[in-house]
Amino acid sequence: MCGIIGYTGHSAAAPILLDGLRRLEYRGYDSAGLALVGAGTLTEIKEVGKVARLEEACAGFPELENDVCCGIAHTRWATHGVPSAVNAHPHCDEKYEFAIVHNGIVENHHELRAHLEKKGYHFRSSTDSEVIVHLIAEAYEGDLLSATAAAVRQLSGTYGIAVVSSRHPGLIVAARKGSPLVIGLGEGENLIASDISALLPRTRKVIYLNDGDIAAIRPDGIDLRDVSNVPVEREVAKIDWDAAAAEKGNFPHFMLKEIFEQPETVENAIRGRLNLEMGNAVLNGLELSPRDLAQISRIVIAGCGSSMHAGMVGEYYFEDIAGISTSVEQAAEFRYRNPIIEPNTLVIPISQSGETADTIAAVREAVGKGALVTALCNVVGSTIAREAGRGVYLHAGPEISVASTKAFSSQVAVLLLMALLLGRNRRLSRSEGSELAREIEQAPELIRQVLAQAETIRAIAKRYAAFDDFFYIGRGCLYPTALEGALKLKEISYVHAEGYHAAELKHGPIALLDERHPVLALANDIPGREKILGNIQECRARRAPVVAVATVGDREVEQLTDDVIFVPACSRFIAPLPTAVALQLFAYFIAVERGCEIDQPRNLAKSVTVE
Ligand code: M6R
Repeated sequence: MCGIIGYTGHSAAAPILLDGLRRLEYRGYDSAGLALVGAGTLTEIKEVGKVARLEEACAGFPELENDVCCGIAHTRWATHGVPSAVNAHPHCDEKYEFAIVHNGIVENHHELRAHLEKKGYHFRSSTDSEVIVHLIAEAYEGDLLSATAAAVRQLSGTYGIAVVSSRHPGLIVAARKGSPLVIGLGEGENLIASDISALLPRTRKVIYLNDGDIAAIRPDGIDLRDVSNVPVEREVAKIDWDAAAAEKGNFPHFMLKEIFEQPETVENAIRGRLNLEMGNAVLNGLELSPRDLAQISRIVIAGCGSSMHAGMVGEYYFEDIAGISTSVEQAAEFRYRNPIIEPNTLVIPISQSGETADTIAAVREAVGKGALVTALCNVVGSTIAREAGRGVYLHAGPEISVASTKAFSSQVAVLLLMALLLGRNRRLSRSEGSELAREIEQAPELIRQVLAQAETIRAIAKRYAAFDDFFYIGRGCLYPTALEGALKLKEISYVHAEGYHAAELKHGPIALLDERHPVLALANDIPGREKILGNIQECRARRAPVVAVATVGDREVEQLTDDVIFVPACSRFIAPLPTAVALQLFAYFIAVERGCEIDQPRNLAKSVTVE
């Protein structure tokens, strides 16, 4: 999705903006641009393609190096209008006095454009965003904040915008509705960005804007107004991620780095949250007393993509461990389907970014219907984390790769903690709780053991890299794990991969099986293994090559299949973690073999902030 960075201070703005754009590249984009304002000047530079091309273009403006200390920049992911330099942001008014960058979608742009064109405004681009800059020019009477406020009042849809003007060097105006913006507070300088990873090299003190907020940002201070134009103070949050956490280090890709971080990130997700002696979990962020917990009669989990898959693993946990009826909803369905929320329904929205549009809408629906809502987010202070009011953070650090890996494992780990807590609150004995707590504690080590086999997994992946269709099958908690494995493969290697419940194969998909359709069978030694062995036989009878994930030492599976990725022995509750890591590595190495652009797969964005 699009990314925004703005800077105002006493250092040259261009290199800071370009660095910020590079840190936003992971979100996915097709063009990039920046606008710099000096005393009475506004320079706009835009390019199709990578930020590196924009950087080369900026080299043609040496005057920007030193004296221009304020500007805004953007990476665009095309929605309205093809990827082109003209459609790239910033967009300027006709006299090049104002420039804006915009994330989101202006839904009434046709009407606004017609109205502006009638008044003689000329449009250069075919974007929805350009209307905003002309509205600002039209409303301007000497005060940029008021002009921006007047402009955004006319917009329907979503926006996160940053505005500069040659009439106000040093000033950035930012406004938000439905598209995240965060102010970075520095020493003698301030920044605005759509994503904190762009701010990390300069500051870790931030203010998250609320919907309806509008801010005037200068090097020496911030003037913040709410939706009714009333000055407001917002809490300053301290980000505990450092800039290095958002860099690749010695890894060739963020995805591989994040896969390898999982022993630590899962450790972080469970640290301080297990009471081995009491056989219980401690999740203060839930803010639910034992009495509140006991009253929960139903759980509804909402999320998208990998977060939804983690929720599907959680469904098994809540039902099996805590005996609470649970369902998982694709967040967009939840929002539009008029879901039934009873007084004691607990709704758990799951989102790494905390900014996924459909999941935000699901939170609002659940809050509006009076549900208990408790979110699982990774990004501290994100919209979902704030609007849910209570929740549990993943503490996985910044996830930069578009393909989610470490967030998924942390979500699964936190869901398991929640199930333990709810289980102990009802039917689980102290000793049963302690046994599960000890297993959870072992999870990081089990993941480490899978990572130690990366080279073996690479060798297996090489043998399968030329296939164009895969099936992933699993049962129980490993069914959603199979869905997640298939999603990883298709996202980064563009190979067609389908996840199925193993029992479902016979109900249709088996018609496709032949020697061109490898099957990844999750055959860990947990309940259901015998049935999976039967499914493997069925696949082999159709000459489909079979790669199994199996428990170390399982000779039977080894003999039945073409290749085996061994994972350590563990219970059915823990099995999704080492298994998911093995599948992540398999997908990663196939994508490497196929020469794919792993961290920024085509057509995908890290955070889907539009419907
Ligand atoms: O930030 P969220 O967890 O809400 O994102 C949800 C999905 O967009 C995300 O998991 C997506 O499916 C990933 N690309 C999966 O790798």
